[in-house]
Amino acid sequence: MSTVEPVVTSPDAAATPLLEVRNLSIRYGRKGPLAVDDVSFTIGRGETLGLIGESGSGKTTIGRAILGLVPVTSGRIIFEGRDITRLSAADRRTLQGDLRAVFQDPFSSLDPRKPIGDALSAPLRVAGVPRADRTFRVQAALDSVGLAPGSEERYPRQFSGGQRQRVAIARALVTDPRLVVCDEAVSALDLSTQAQVLNLLSDLRAGADLGYLFIAHDMAVVEFLAQRVVVLNRGRVVEQGETREVMRNPQAHYTRVLMAASPVPDPDEQARRRQAWQQLKASASAPVA
Ligand SMILES: Nc1ncnc2c1ncn2[C@@H]1O[C@H](COP(=O)(O)OP(=O)(O)O)[C@@H](O)[C@H]1O
Ligand SMILES: [Mg+2]
Repeated sequence: MSTVEPVVTSPDAAATPLLEVRNLSIRYGRKGPLAVDDVSFTIGRGETLGLIGESGSGKTTIGRAILGLVPVTSGRIIFEGRDITRLSAADRRTLQGDLRAVFQDPFSSLDPRKPIGDALSAPLRVAGVPRADRTFRVQAALDSVGLAPGSEERYPRQFSGGQRQRVAIARALVTDPRLVVCDEAVSALDLSTQAQVLNLLSDLRAGADLGYLFIAHDMAVVEFLAQRVVVLNRGRVVEQGETREVMRNPQAHYTRVLMAASPVPDPDEQARRRQAWQQLKASASAPVA
């Protein structure tokens, strides 16, 4: 496929995808192998797209390229009809409110010396929200993820792992974004906390015009949240489609192996996980803890 086709911006905003990744290739350094090799996918408005593959398959590299944190070797990234493949720092800042991220380890990105309210109001300041409105917006975001009033005064170490991931989600959502890149956002959490955070992410997108790129190595996690899924192997897309279809009838051998592969080595634990996931899917939204 050609990588030089022009960006066609539809006059109908509703018909413009939220995100288009076209023939994206990325290599680290001048000579290394391609970490991402000719990857194309689209995320519709308000859609959750899962991105799965083994460790090293290029998932994080794609997420970081969308966020402007890794330079693109070739191909294009188009956000709401606008080519964002190579933006200046100043142009990138104009996107900060609309395009946000939640990473695996929020603790590493929270300043231990500052109350978490500071981490939430910073993106509002960048987005030009007046000071007088920021306090309320921060409190509303913390409330939306189930954290108690006054949480904005507390420090990162005063939160549990699951609570810190809620802080990270609140920080991502405080600017009312269009797209959130979630990179292994629940992978470090224990199973019941994973379930709570996934339910929270699911609840937060309901009624909001909010899309997710949901990156995970665990098929069950993606299955719970994503309408469509892209399967990556060594930087290449081996399969993509509706999550349910891919799960029911995987076309690529790699996808079958990925689905059969135990994310945990212990078969009893694996069986327990499967059962827990079945219960999670069957249950209504779990209470916030
Ligand atoms: N900063 C980096 N410098 C060089 N190679 C990297 C860097 N980050 C990732 N890679 C390589 O790129 C490939 C894809 O990595 P990554 O995107 O982290 O995969 P995943 O998130 O699916 O585990 C791997 O081969 C990895 O070793
Ligand atoms: Mg990764």
